[in-house]
Amino acid sequence: MDRLVIEGGFRLKGEVTVSGAKNSVLPVLAATLLTDDTCVIKDVPNLRDTNTMLKILRSLGKQVEYHKGIVTVSSNKCLNFVADYKLVSTMRASFCVLGPLLGRFRKARVSLPGGCVIGLRPVDLHIKGIRSLGAEVRVEGGYVIAEARRLRGSRMYLGGAFGSSVLATDNVMMAAVMAKGKTVIEAAACEPEVTDLADFLIKMGARIKGHGTPIIEIEGVDKLHGAIHKIIPDRIEAGTMMIAALITGGDLTIKNVLFQHQGALLDKLEEAGAIIKRFDSSLRVTRKGRLKPINVTTLPYPGFPTDMQAQIMSLMSITAGISVITEKIFPDRFMHVAELNRMGAHIQREGPHAIVEGVKGLSGAQVMASDLRASASLLLAGLAAKGKTSVSRIYHLERGYENIEKKIIELGGNIWREKE
Ligand code: EPZ
Repeated sequence: MDRLVIEGGFRLKGEVTVSGAKNSVLPVLAATLLTDDTCVIKDVPNLRDTNTMLKILRSLGKQVEYHKGIVTVSSNKCLNFVADYKLVSTMRASFCVLGPLLGRFRKARVSLPGGCVIGLRPVDLHIKGIRSLGAEVRVEGGYVIAEARRLRGSRMYLGGAFGSSVLATDNVMMAAVMAKGKTVIEAAACEPEVTDLADFLIKMGARIKGHGTPIIEIEGVDKLHGAIHKIIPDRIEAGTMMIAALITGGDLTIKNVLFQHQGALLDKLEEAGAIIKRFDSSLRVTRKGRLKPINVTTLPYPGFPTDMQAQIMSLMSITAGISVITEKIFPDRFMHVAELNRMGAHIQREGPHAIVEGVKGLSGAQVMASDLRASASLLLAGLAAKGKTSVSRIYHLERGYENIEKKIIELGGNIWREKE
């Protein structure tokens, strides 16, 4: 396994271009199961997770080519309907093949994804939604087995104890687009990645209204055809780069950004004192003097994204004063706290809250990545820390950030890879 070594103290300056959104490309690739026609997906980031999804599509009988950010998916033989444990267990998001397999073939056998360090990751809302469409669903031997003679549209409420569910909304939408009649999803997730999936489904011939709002209406159709689609920019990579600019006292122009997707984050960064200039599809991020402490609570979109919680914690760990960060989506998503404290941060966990007392500076240390966004927060802390930080288990980082070392080196950061 590799580890990343970061020598801190370099201000990041210049321009960086954000890649396509990981959390959009995964369900969009799954949606290609809904047709035998050829689909062309552009701006596909070369990530561990993307390549896992391409493997799953191939295991289900799809022909897949991936070249220079463009994925072409077509069918070369009848599909099988089993997404097996060894692939699904490496990436929870693979569970979103359940909806399209059921929608297209009326049967699916998908391994339960299991939990991960950020939480139990239940799928009860996914099952509730497809049952509401008339599927028989049972859990056997670690697999969700779903079958339906015919899927019928229905009205359903998909909100859970922690609010809406992104992938449950995706799964139900991909099953409902070929169900008979009308489906109404109440408490649907409003994330831009859900909207991007709906836009792709509409290009395939689906009839969807209300995507991006809590009420999505779908009129089932008999058949879907191939389509060409460009993935939206990754708002979490963009946010991570904004914090890289601020934590190093640098000056970054971040290109390929839809700042209308960044409302909550921009609001909090400006409250902390960041200077953010907005252009058509890019942002320039700097700061003048010291930042101020802020309180952050993660919520479903358009609230502050849970996927930016670890990263903003790194920034607040060296911002004088007390910042309170409350995690309402995944209350256990604090694996990065202990590692940041190893670097000299003063963070105390109180249930779903992290009390961050800003310190003058962090010192480089050996730290361990535990999940995708925790590894991003450790990399950010390393950029600001005095001395060298080595982050082990960086396969977590490779799941969601395309060419992150190259991008940071080009911005003047000092980062390299070593064998563990
Ligand atoms: C998506 O995960 C994202 N992943 C996550 O990003 C993101 O953190 C999450 O949405 C929340 O925004 C992808 O899109 C591939 P949820 P998802 O269902 O859909 C609970 C990253 O770092 N819940 O919206 O799996 C759940 O436990 C990843 O890029 C149920 O209770 O998350 C959580 O508390 C991490 N029952 C809340 O809902 C269910 O059936 C939101 O989870 C499903 C979810």
